[in-house]
Amino acid sequence: MSSAAATLSEIVRAAGSHVPRLLGLVEQRLKTLAAGHGPVLAAHAGDTIAAGGKRMRPLLVLLAAGPQAAREPELIAAAASVELIHSATLVHDDVLDGAHLRRGVPTIWAQGGRALAVATGDLLFSRAFSELTAAGSLPAVRSLSRATSALAEGELLQRQDAWNAAVPIERYLLRCELKTARLFEAACELGAQVARLTDAQIAELGSFGRAIGLAFQLLDDVIDVAGPASLTGKQRGADLLDGTVTLPLILARERDAQLAALDLRTITTPEQAEELCARIERTDALAEARARALRVVAEAKCRLDALPLEAGQRQALKLVGDSVADRTA
Ligand code: FPP
Ligand code: MG
Repeated sequence: MSSAAATLSEIVRAAGSHVPRLLGLVEQRLKTLAAGHGPVLAAHAGDTIAAGGKRMRPLLVLLAAGPQAAREPELIAAAASVELIHSATLVHDDVLDGAHLRRGVPTIWAQGGRALAVATGDLLFSRAFSELTAAGSLPAVRSLSRATSALAEGELLQRQDAWNAAVPIERYLLRCELKTARLFEAACELGAQVARLTDAQIAELGSFGRAIGLAFQLLDDVIDVAGPASLTGKQRGADLLDGTVTLPLILARERDAQLAALDLRTITTPEQAEELCARIERTDALAEARARALRVVAEAKCRLDALPLEAGQRQALKLVGDSVADRTA
């Protein structure tokens, strides 16, 4: 068992048995929501959801809410919506990236082409919002729509900055915030809203989610350069090959003049990408980027102490932070 998987069982132990039960109900709800729009779209949307993933965002919704027996339908709707948005963005991202595999299975784009993948992503996106609307919470709709706007802005920023190895670090961090951290933030806000916390507390739990999401993306970008492919299931340096400049390269360019002068467009083969990753690693940029992510997680965990959470709930949220920090794949 990987350390991340071991941490998931610890999270459940800390938070209580309602968490796996609710996660099961969220799973059922996701399947129901993917169906009901004709067999072709339902099959693809269903496959996307069945392909799995870590379900981190629904887990954050549940943990931020704590045990809420009376409001379970609202909670499940919120958790399912966040996961549907996440799935929709990945389906669209695979079209934009021309990606053939996701979570080890052929992407919808690869199987059925652009039109089918765009429509499937749209379906998942719109089902997410109809689910939230049915739960009747305007603040929840507001939180999630803020996050989806951010996601789209983040994707646009990534396209604008493609191949620009000299991108400033602040702009890279903004991209991570927009494309990843804001959905984690919304997940925590949604859970805190179900628990009827105050606006200040909802914002504070949201900040925790945002920090965890930022660390998640920073480490995702470290893993892309660190490899190895046998552990990550992805080509080492895949981001560099498609022109996505991330923190390891930004830091490495400050230490290695040859890297600073490199035109990323000259890196076109997996072998060249592998060599570039090894060179980045030799500058210690990976260790520094990882350390930065771990600092973000540590600060986020400390902020939880000021919130009126149950001991087990607080511990479980901290363990989510640890599981992000422990990521190696
Ligand atoms: C995956 O990250 C992609 C994202 C987190 C954001 C994608 C956003 C869009 C396609 C635009 C918004 C779409 C909707 C439906 C609101 P990555 O590319 O870093 O990781 P990967 O290696 O898994 O592709
Ligand atoms: Mg991508």
